Amino acid sequence: MVNNLILLSLINAVVCQRCPSGMFGEQCELFCKYPHCFCNSPLDCTSCEAGYFNTSANCKFTCISPTCKCTNRDNCHSCKDGSYRFENNCKHNCSVGCDGTACYNNGTCDTCKPYFSGSKCDSCVDGQYGANCSLQCSLGCAGKVCNSRNGTCHCRNYFSGEKCDLCVDGNYGENCSLKCSQGCEENTCNLRDGTCNCSTNYSGEQCENCIRDRYGEGCSKTCSLGCLENTCSSTDGKCDCKEFYTGDRCDVCRDGRNGDHCLNNNYHKGKHKGIPTSRRLHILGSETRQLHHLQFTCWPDKDVPDDVTRIIEFRQRVLNTPD
Ligand SMILES: *[C@@H]1O[C@H](CO)[C@@H](O)[C@H](O)[C@H]1NC(C)=O
Ligand SMILES: *[C@@H]1O[C@H](CO)[C@@H](O)[C@H](O)[C@H]1NC(C)=O
Ligand SMILES: *[C@@H]1O[C@H](CO)[C@@H](O)[C@H](O)[C@H]1NC(C)=O
Ligand SMILES: *[C@@H]1O[C@H](CO)[C@@H](O)[C@H](O)[C@H]1NC(C)=O
Ligand SMILES: *[C@@H]1O[C@H](CO)[C@@H](O)[C@H](O)[C@H]1NC(C)=O
Ligand SMILES: *[C@@H]1O[C@H](CO)[C@@H](O)[C@H](O)[C@H]1NC(C)=O
Ligand SMILES: *[C@@H]1O[C@H](CO)[C@@H](O)[C@H](O)[C@H]1NC(C)=O
Ligand SMILES: *[C@@H]1O[C@H](CO)[C@@H](O)[C@H](O)[C@H]1NC(C)=O
Repeated sequence: MVNNLILLSLINAVVCQRCPSGMFGEQCELFCKYPHCFCNSPLDCTSCEAGYFNTSANCKFTCISPTCKCTNRDNCHSCKDGSYRFENNCKHNCSVGCDGTACYNNGTCDTCKPYFSGSKCDSCVDGQYGANCSLQCSLGCAGKVCNSRNGTCHCRNYFSGEKCDLCVDGNYGENCSLKCSQGCEENTCNLRDGTCNCSTNYSGEQCENCIRDRYGEGCSKTCSLGCLENTCSSTDGKCDCKEFYTGDRCDVCRDGRNGDHCLNNNYHKGKHKGIPTSRRLHILGSETRQLHHLQFTCWPDKDVPDDVTRIIEFRQRVLNTPD
């Protein structure tokens, strides 16, 4: 009779274990004696609900850890996917770097996700870092390797910052090897393109020029008055000249001029007169030639000289010079 009952219970257990643990009956309206058992009669304990084990003791034992697999018969004997080391109650999580959710009881996994490495896939391949190893170590890291957790590293030349993602003060560029221009305020410029805020008297995107009208060290010198449009080279002050001016920096008046803006014309005062010159050139070779070069200098600009004796003298010389 007892045997028949057990047999019946087993059949029920297989066929219709639909009631929640602790209940049984056609409508699940009846109570099992042991609350954590699935049962088919009040005294039966067919299997344990999740989190409990040992059917022989009517599932009265609580599983030691939610990450353990415990069965009807025993407590933690293996770990659920995602955790490992059952002898320590599966308290360890498999690394997020493990491809798939499971790992061996010693934490190793067969294959790692991209960018992860190590037997437990808990570090990053060289050059990567971050929780997902998806971030690239900074270009400034020596050997392109960095701490796999936080990206800190030893810096190459000219780089700075914990992650070596900055340049040393006053530098910029892909390799941080370019110098911010002298005109950059506080000697700092944009790390990528070197643009900056300009110090006084400087201009340009990279403050590499002096403002209009200035040149030289610190852009502290003023372009000379004779510079066309008051503009001159930032470095040496050279410029194109206004009318009446000459010299590299257009800071002297042209011949015959002086005074404010070189506007005075000395010819009016009769100080200078036309001066004829002549040169003789002896060309040596198989034959000798003589060259007469006559030049009349200092004819006043756009003006008529007060005294024309010199030009007359010059004409005379031209006429007297042999062919
Ligand atoms: C299950 O319970 C029985 C009865 O209480 C006990 O003898 C046995 O040691 C327990 N098994 C485990 C694995 O705890
Ligand atoms: C394991 O992961 C769980 C949730 O995923 C988390 O609550 C727990 O703190 C982790 N344990 C360890 C040791 O990191
Ligand atoms: C970890 O366990 C696996 C499977 O048992 C084994 O093949 C592997 O050698 C173990 N690794 C280490 C580092 O103990
Ligand atoms: C890592 O990946 C997870 C899921 O893809 C994402 O939610 C998280 O933001 C990532 N973390 C980092 C630091 O990239
Ligand atoms: C990065 O990690 C290293 C080593 O764990 C640590 O010494 C350093 O302080 C960390 N840096 C930051 C910014 O968290
Ligand atoms: C930075 O360094 C690399 C490697 O030495 C070189 O190829 C590249 O041209 C450099 N870039 C600049 C802007 O100097
Ligand atoms: C320029 O000055 C502004 C305002 O002070 C500041 O926000 C900005 O960061 C500066 N730019 C550079 C490249 O230093
Ligand atoms: C700017 O230029 C002026 C005039 O050339 C000069 O006096 C001044 O010292 C310059 N300012 C700076 C900050 O160099």
